[in-house]
Amino acid sequence: MADLSLTLSPQTPADFAAIEKLDERAFGPGRFARSAYRLREGVEPDYSLSFVARVGTLLVGANRVTPIFCGERPALLFGPLTVDPPFRSGGIGEELVMKSLDAARAAGHRLVLLVGDMSYYGKMGFLPVPPDRLVFAGPVDPERLLYCELAEGAFEGVKGKLRRALR
Ligand SMILES: CC(C)(COP(=O)(O)OP(=O)(O)OC[C@H]1O[C@@H](n2cnc3c(N)ncnc32)[C@H](O)[C@@H]1OP(=O)(O)O)[C@@H](O)C(=O)NCCC(=O)NCCS
Repeated sequence: MADLSLTLSPQTPADFAAIEKLDERAFGPGRFARSAYRLREGVEPDYSLSFVARVGTLLVGANRVTPIFCGERPALLFGPLTVDPPFRSGGIGEELVMKSLDAARAAGHRLVLLVGDMSYYGKMGFLPVPPDRLVFAGPVDPERLLYCELAEGAFEGVKGKLRRALR
């Protein structure tokens, strides 16, 4: 019988087409105009920190992690996080985020940013960025700009523009 248990594994470029399909369904074509996309443009995701969730061989969820700069400080941008509608509310989204946070901490990263809802990400350790600390690349609802410290004090003194981490 097929094994239909949930597995989380690092993303590879071969997952790209399936992830695009999930993102298209969740966010529609307007997703490319979102400010967070600007920060990812032309930057390779960190595949070792970005995970996909599979039930059997079916890809049902994904979280991308991209390096960015927060002022002068290196940081990570999480997202898009997407779970296929029939598989939602089973904890897959939270598992994907926690897996990326653990892997990022283990790899020595100190700070994570994302654009999302505090009501969802608060329980995973995210906090709202105080007003006027960070300048986003485009329009973003300031209440949805969240951060998570992977090392104590990592957000202290961080100020300025969010920029792409171009090599
Ligand atoms: C957000 C998303 C990834 C959550 O995936 P998931 O596997 O269902 O997540 P979990 O099982 O960990 O948590 C589900 C719970 O979070 C709640 N939730 C989902 N999105 C939420 C949001 N934006 N704000 C507050 N709560 C939210 C759900 O209602 C659900 O509550 P329930 O358990 O009482 O039913 C999924 O709903 C999705 O793909 N949404 C569309 C894309 C999106 O909005 N991504 C986040 C962008 S930052």
